[in-house]
Amino acid sequence: MDTILEPRATTALAANRTMEYWGYNGLLPGPTLHLNPGDTARIRLINTLPEPTNLHFHGLHVSPSGHGDNPFLAIPPGEQFDYELTIPTDHPAGTFWYHPHIHERTAPQVYRGLSGAILIHGGLDDIPEIAAVPSETAILQDFTVDRNGRIPEPSMPERMRGREGAITAINGQLQPSFQIERGGALRLRLINASCSRHYRFAVEEHPIAVLALDGNTLPAPLWADDWLLAPGQRADLWIEAKRQPGSYRILNLPYDRGGMGMFATVPSQPSILGHLQYTGSAAQTPHLPESLTSIAPLPAPSITRSFLLSEGMMGAFLINGRAFDHARTDTTVALGATEDWVIENRGSMDHPFHLHVHRFQPVTPSGEATPTWLDTILVPRNSTRRIRIPFLDFPGRTVYHCHILDHEDMGMMGTLDVTSP
Ligand code: C2O
Ligand code: CU
Ligand code: CU
Repeated sequence: MDTILEPRATTALAANRTMEYWGYNGLLPGPTLHLNPGDTARIRLINTLPEPTNLHFHGLHVSPSGHGDNPFLAIPPGEQFDYELTIPTDHPAGTFWYHPHIHERTAPQVYRGLSGAILIHGGLDDIPEIAAVPSETAILQDFTVDRNGRIPEPSMPERMRGREGAITAINGQLQPSFQIERGGALRLRLINASCSRHYRFAVEEHPIAVLALDGNTLPAPLWADDWLLAPGQRADLWIEAKRQPGSYRILNLPYDRGGMGMFATVPSQPSILGHLQYTGSAAQTPHLPESLTSIAPLPAPSITRSFLLSEGMMGAFLINGRAFDHARTDTTVALGATEDWVIENRGSMDHPFHLHVHRFQPVTPSGEATPTWLDTILVPRNSTRRIRIPFLDFPGRTVYHCHILDHEDMGMMGTLDVTSP
């Protein structure tokens, strides 16, 4: 076995307090898995939790069947399961992550701490100018911890909006500092592993360049003042230390994701996630290439499907009017097809739509695919997003869902069967 992941109840210091969390191998977040295209990853899940769990490898383009990235498995307490992932030789290199995917228990299990990074090497790592600068991974999680150090279950209204913890942590630490050499640069791999919290990530006085989204390298760096990361999404950022030496706050700027009632209030001030701390002086000036990769155009779609996201009465979260049923197949796609999916959000809050196994490109209102690969797209309330998906390989059943994990648990998930002739 290459890797053993044992989710386990642990009491330890995290985010500056002693808390009772669930961590893979007792760690918050779990160990980082390092893989290369062409690898076969063997991962043994040993379930020492008091309830069933499983593993999902978010964003990986691998088989969803059998011992692969199979979201329909449930490993009972006290039992173990051997996953085997065959990573294609042309798999995108970048930032991915793993977490449990047990229907109706995904939000509580992730909220208690269960998640970890998967780094597929190559891609950006092979660009000399980018390889020359230090790289850090930042897993964004949020928790509420009561005075006994326990993570309490949220109320029904909190779950309906999607639980958000009172404290945010990066890599299990409260407001950590990331070091950067003055005149140098830092590559920061962000993973939003929070159940529901959206992050409008910014570093004060520092513009950021986005190099990759959802583990897929962009054609060219995209400069921005801040970057919105919905749950499940990742962004590889490039930050240059061109200011006066000092410490700069890493911020989460306010973002209104909608909702009703007292849990929908939007903070008026940014919150502090951590700090960027200048140290020493860089030996050489970093240089960010103007072009990072090329993305071949997609074929025209053979079919357009519609998905309607809606919020029903008392905790009903629906896709096309139906709540999740693992036994029902909602969408059947022929292997080899390229499809357009139109996702309409008629709810009161934003819903980040995520598809397993198969990545996609956003399509503009005029019908052009944007050369950017994603696995999760934010569909703001009262709006529609269109995506283009090539189903080139990996037949089998899998799922798509809202990545606000409480919404997923309450039914906003459907099944997809990719069938070979
Ligand atoms: Cu990260 Cu089905 O999700
Ligand atoms: Cu996923
Ligand atoms: Cu949702």
